[in-house]
Amino acid sequence: MKPNYPTLEQTIGRTPLVRLQRIPGDLAQARGNVILAKLEGNNPAGSVKDRPALSMIVRAEQRGEIRPGDTLIEATSGNTGIALAMVAAIRGYRMILIMPDNLSLERRAAMTAYGAELILTPASQGGMEYARDLALRMQSEGKGKVLDQFGNDDNPQAHIDTTGPEIWQQTEGQITHFVSAMGTTGTIMGVAAYLRDCNEAIQIVGAQPAEGAQIPGIRKWPEAYLPKIYHADRVHALEYIGQPEAETMARRLAAEEGIFAGISSAGALVAALRVAARVQNATIVFIVCDRGDRYLSTGVFNQES
Ligand SMILES: Cc1ncc(COP(=O)(O)O)c(C=O)c1O
Repeated sequence: MKPNYPTLEQTIGRTPLVRLQRIPGDLAQARGNVILAKLEGNNPAGSVKDRPALSMIVRAEQRGEIRPGDTLIEATSGNTGIALAMVAAIRGYRMILIMPDNLSLERRAAMTAYGAELILTPASQGGMEYARDLALRMQSEGKGKVLDQFGNDDNPQAHIDTTGPEIWQQTEGQITHFVSAMGTTGTIMGVAAYLRDCNEAIQIVGAQPAEGAQIPGIRKWPEAYLPKIYHADRVHALEYIGQPEAETMARRLAAEEGIFAGISSAGALVAALRVAARVQNATIVFIVCDRGDRYLSTGVFNQES
């Protein structure tokens, strides 16, 4: 009998959780705090978004809303587009991704490598909001199904089913604080929902860009534009992260810990360190959303720290 080899899809998740050795410094050690990084860049398409991309497509399939061969549509400029393009390739869907035309070439190339079709909208016409409107218009014209990661419960559900249980098991139930950058808020909502049921005392901390900071993948949403999947009562504290401190931390994570990660991941670590400075005997987990090579063309890793 042949071994039961996994398919690529079955390798999504079960990412490593590793302890930082240098950046937390002597103070964290003296206080008895440990800071752990959940390495989501180890997913096959390179980010935490592999989990919700798989969940949104498989669950829609299970409900009979879509079937292989159908066309899926999503307005996304980042990791979600790359992850959806991979899952669509694995499961046999046509994937149309709509995004503003000022997006970095390396991201576009990754999406088309997976066979997705790109529709570029003029950035001057209103960026992502315009792209989202066009996606909905195409759906109403019968051109395909919009997955809508901002309003789709299958996005946080991916983290209730997988990321949350993994963190609980990997820390043997000792986690005291969970820190995540917030984009769609799917990660923080899903993990928070799971961990709250394990231990109500676990503190959930969200990282958002400070006023004027541009950190790819995360936004400080105005009240009217908050993602539908967001429930404010699941987050105990918000930390606002400046662009220079996030970029400096991304360089330090690579050079001092060997973790080559994106800027939003470094922002989550900045938030985790602020928490560590206030608490004792804590086990703090933060999400490393993706890998640093996705940001090479921005020049962020060229600068002196
Ligand atoms: C680079 C990056 N960081 C953070 C996030 C935030 O994750 P979530 O959408 O689950 O809040 C995203 C989401 O798109 C992202 O692409």
